[in-house]
Amino acid sequence: MNIDNLLKKETFTKDELVFLLNCEGDAKTKLFSHAAEVKARYVGRKVYFRGLIEMSNICRKNCLYCGIRAGNKQVHRYTLTDEEVLDAALFAWKNRYGSIAIQTGEVSTAEFTTRIETLLDKINQATNHELGITLSLGEQTEETYRRWYNKGGIRYLLRIESSNRELYSKLHPNDGHHVYDERVECLRALKRVGYQVGTGVMIGLPFQTLEHLAEDLLWMKEMDVDMVGMGPYVEHPSTPLYQFRDTLLPLAERFNLALKMTALLRILMKDINIAAPTALQAIDPLGREKAIKVGANIVMPNITPGAYRNDYKLYENKPCVDDAADDCKSCLEARIQLTGDEIGYGEHGNSKHFYRRNQKF
Ligand code: 5AD
Ligand code: SF4
Ligand code: FES
Repeated sequence: MNIDNLLKKETFTKDELVFLLNCEGDAKTKLFSHAAEVKARYVGRKVYFRGLIEMSNICRKNCLYCGIRAGNKQVHRYTLTDEEVLDAALFAWKNRYGSIAIQTGEVSTAEFTTRIETLLDKINQATNHELGITLSLGEQTEETYRRWYNKGGIRYLLRIESSNRELYSKLHPNDGHHVYDERVECLRALKRVGYQVGTGVMIGLPFQTLEHLAEDLLWMKEMDVDMVGMGPYVEHPSTPLYQFRDTLLPLAERFNLALKMTALLRILMKDINIAAPTALQAIDPLGREKAIKVGANIVMPNITPGAYRNDYKLYENKPCVDDAADDCKSCLEARIQLTGDEIGYGEHGNSKHFYRRNQKF
């Protein structure tokens, strides 16, 4: 296999992807600059903001990698009031972020469904229906997804974490609440309802091989999703998976793989939205900028009220926990400027792929 020939192709086999995930030096430089060209050509050199509101860390699940899993009794649990969420949304709107993303652990009560509905109404009223709203609220019924969509949720993020069933089952307890097929079914339901659908995986997980990552890329292409957020796995001490920390790739290597995954995904899925995940920055202070340079076009500045940020720790070294929304804004402006891209202030920055998929232009 030869890098120049490979990069002329539009799609890759699993073996070719493994080869590309392994490439270093000159070949890696070529891969990255090709991904940057694809990005510039298909989605433009613009980065869109999604103001991230971590609304609650209460979760009914027990994912073995996650710091806020239900079984972690050391976590101080919180839920923002409607007022706090609204204030954050107003901050995003006034600062022309274009979009927000509301994230919580997984809660599936009738009260929660209704609360989100009312909240969506309140946000839309307060911001003149101008914000693009992304939801990331876990696995729910199609009916619930529809109710939220009808209230103005336009995008939904639900990571598959790993598209390989066997690996998925090693990352989740076998208790009937963490079923691979149900997660995939949720993604299909989200598409049926009409959302722009996002998924993603973690990179550098225990037991994960380059073959798994190559499969993940092909799986995301096959699922024909509109958005992807994927980042390095960062071990958390109060989780069951921490016991395998000695088997992990060094952090720098997980970071390197995450960048190659981003670049390859951009080449495979030219017109989707790809987030530069915050977890990258937990490893390298310039993590997100590096992802923007190799294909990412979305960043999610944290706009959660400062007092709560420390309690939403999915992994160690989470950045921005001591900062305020204003700090993240100026910090990101400076950082994105360094990449040479511009920020799409006041624009939704919807997935171009979504429109093409629905043949709306
Ligand atoms: N390291 C990196 N990412 C994690 N997530 C959860 N725990 C970790 C971790 N330890 C990610 C999952 C989840 C998203 C909200 O955060 O991919 O979908
Ligand atoms: Fe809950 Fe999400 Fe963490 Fe799993 S990854 S325990 S669903 S917050
Ligand atoms: Fe939050 Fe830099 S993005 S402080």
